[in-house]
Amino acid sequence: MRKRATEPIRSLLRARGISWPAPIERFRNVGSTNDVLRERARAGARGWHVVIAEQQNAGRGRQGRPWVSRVGDLFLSLLVRPVDVPVETLGVLPLLAGVAVSQAAREWGVEPRLKWPNDVLVGERKLAGILAEASSAGLGLEHVVLGIGVNLALDPPEHLRGVATSVREETGRTPTPDQAAAALLGAFLAVARTLAPGGVAAVVSAWRERAADWWGREVEVSSGDTRLAGRALGVDEEGALLVQTGGGTIRVLSGEARVLRLAEERAPEGRS
Ligand code: BTN
Repeated sequence: MRKRATEPIRSLLRARGISWPAPIERFRNVGSTNDVLRERARAGARGWHVVIAEQQNAGRGRQGRPWVSRVGDLFLSLLVRPVDVPVETLGVLPLLAGVAVSQAAREWGVEPRLKWPNDVLVGERKLAGILAEASSAGLGLEHVVLGIGVNLALDPPEHLRGVATSVREETGRTPTPDQAAAALLGAFLAVARTLAPGGVAAVVSAWRERAADWWGREVEVSSGDTRLAGRALGVDEEGALLVQTGGGTIRVLSGEARVLRLAEERAPEGRS
């Protein structure tokens, strides 16, 4: 794995008044930045350690999907240890990451909305994705690797047309991956500092302000091997998705949600 200089990112961070508190590693090509960072974590890396790659050969999305990872976009993983943020906010880290990405995107002239748990969308199309992978040892959480992919310059392959967008497509401007990394890390620190002291409620409320307006719509949610369909009602005080089903309201703590159709389009009762 060939390493690249990280001084340009550190200097962009310094220009924002940030002295990044941990190592930043930048590679030309890796399998997955999440996997490299997990190895670093197992070897004792401290919290806020960052791994960035120009491209990934085996970029991973949620639910085992591949993540298209070509030069020009941002592929970044960030290590969070339980000591780095108030312990009660660990469960909402994926939401906090979504808030940070949407904050950074404003700098690029994009106002994305968040889809539970942390898809970053412009309209219906995905601008960025977050893969949060936790590792536990004994009784406790050891660390969380937050992997973030941002489409900066993506020219979507056929199967992603209409599904993915990029900063370039939305604004005509293309931040470099280094500029995007500095904006993202800066936003992450700022969001963690301002929201974490307020605990889960502050994170959830910031997330709600940026949420895509799909409440009341019919959704299908998969969580592990379980699937359920119902109407998305919102997120509760702990960041869980509330879904109204025939059997009552269900709280979904983690998983993936997909809008099926607009609630208004539902056939009237008794008709198919
Ligand atoms: C999603 O499915 O929405 C999550 C996509 C996460 C992609 C990022 S790119 C950096 C990090 N490394 C990976 O292999 N995946 C995440």
